[in-house]
Amino acid sequence: MFNHIQNNDFASIVKGRRSVRNYDENFKISKEEIHEMISEASLAPSSANMQPWRVVVVDTPEGKEKLRPLVRFNTLQNDTSSAMLLIFGDTQSYLNAEEIFNTAVEQGKMPAEVRDSQLQTILSMFPALPQEIKVEVAKIDSSLFAMQFMLVARAHGYDTNPMAGFEVDQVAKAFDLDEERYTPVMMISIGKAKENGYESVRLSSDKITFWR
Ligand SMILES: Cc1cc2nc3c(=O)[nH]c(=O)nc-3n(C[C@H](O)[C@H](O)[C@H](O)COP(=O)(O)O)c2cc1C
Repeated sequence: MFNHIQNNDFASIVKGRRSVRNYDENFKISKEEIHEMISEASLAPSSANMQPWRVVVVDTPEGKEKLRPLVRFNTLQNDTSSAMLLIFGDTQSYLNAEEIFNTAVEQGKMPAEVRDSQLQTILSMFPALPQEIKVEVAKIDSSLFAMQFMLVARAHGYDTNPMAGFEVDQVAKAFDLDEERYTPVMMISIGKAKENGYESVRLSSDKITFWR
């Protein structure tokens, strides 16, 4: 992790991130670096550390062709990006609970008693949640991953565009995922910018903050 960082200046990463929709089609990010960025973004927090984010990386001409009819008005990003990342939330992320908590104990990051009590709470609570709550939890956590991924991409010298404009009821099946289990969260295009994104305005913090 952190082997390919080009920019480590926090303010410039946050301030310089903007949605880029047109990329250099000839620029290919290696699988190794995409894995690295996914690992870095996975340092995001999540409910009970269940890490429900799942990513389908579409970076082949065949994959892009399959995705094209599903991306609505976002064809330029699909056609020119190095990769399209389809972010899904796993509504059965608790199936990894034992692996995550056992590894934490093995690595000396958690006492065994804490693991035992946390696992008991998680495994008695999560599976029994109503499906709409499972979806909500998976989407909240996966959105934190997505945001972190976009900042990580900037640190690697790439640009991104988050997108909700796609056929949410078709993507899981099209890419061979169980649609009951994996809920679509967003797509993110990534690549070397051909055209800079435009600056956008933000509401003032006064307007969006309630002090009580
Ligand atoms: C959840 C989400 C969905 C979005 N969907 C799209 C989309 O489908 N197509 C698109 O071109 N931009 C999309 N955007 C990008 C927004 O238009 C953009 O983030 C916003 O205008 C602020 O600009 P900035 O990203 O350059 O700061 C989306 C952004 C978010 C966070």
